[in-house]
Amino acid sequence: MYAPEYPIRTERLLLRPLTLDDAAPMLVYKSDADAVRYVPYGQLSLSDIEERIQTRWSTTRFEKQDDAVCLGIEERETGRLVGDVVLFWRSERDREGEVGYILDPAQSGKGYATEAVAALLELGFEGLGLHRIAARIDERNTSSARVVDRLGFRQEARLVESSWFKEEWTTLLIYGLLDREWRAGRAAGVGVHPS
Ligand SMILES: CC(C)(COP(=O)(O)OP(=O)(O)OC[C@H]1O[C@@H](n2cnc3c(N)ncnc32)[C@H](O)[C@@H]1OP(=O)(O)O)[C@@H](O)C(=O)NCCC(=O)NCCS
Repeated sequence: MYAPEYPIRTERLLLRPLTLDDAAPMLVYKSDADAVRYVPYGQLSLSDIEERIQTRWSTTRFEKQDDAVCLGIEERETGRLVGDVVLFWRSERDREGEVGYILDPAQSGKGYATEAVAALLELGFEGLGLHRIAARIDERNTSSARVVDRLGFRQEARLVESSWFKEEWTTLLIYGLLDREWRAGRAAGVGVHPS
């Protein structure tokens, strides 16, 4: 079992559990067709979001494989919710996790996703003791691929039309990062942002 301490602080952000007060700012991006195009869910309503905040997005610690912790990304300077991240514990035996992330489109282009996912990697590798963290990215989602590229992930596979997703065949890029690669990258300053 691993129960992270919250909030998790980065240079410009806090990662913290979601509350019902986050539902309205989340609606801005979770109801946006472009923002949710490549994420597993469709456009969400306010009541969808409130229901999820109270159920599947309320998990704050890892007790067993398949647990997923979803955290709000708060801008420290303003206290505003700018997006959210999720770490899935995919396999206890293989010590494997997977990351997901989404930003309010108005908050993109500032490095916030990269900064938040960097903190999630630390949680996964240092806290939960993972060996490998993966990201599964639609090939067309180039801004998402750039996030994991910046953090030192390797592209491991390109699965051509492997997934029937949102009514079309989707080519998936599989990215991976090992704990030793992450430690070496951290020592070299990978994913560190200028102030
Ligand atoms: C994927 C997603 C989170 C990427 O957002 P993003 O804003 O491009 O990523 P970041 O927040 O890390 O910002 C990085 C960009 O900010 C720029 N930037 C500006 N100031 C910066 C700073 N101080 N530090 C770092 N980067 C900075 C970087 O150069 C980079 O731009 P580039 O990719 O054009 O080179 C966003 O497009 C999104 O929410 N998409 C919808 C949801 C989604 O598809 N999620 C992924 C599913 S797999």
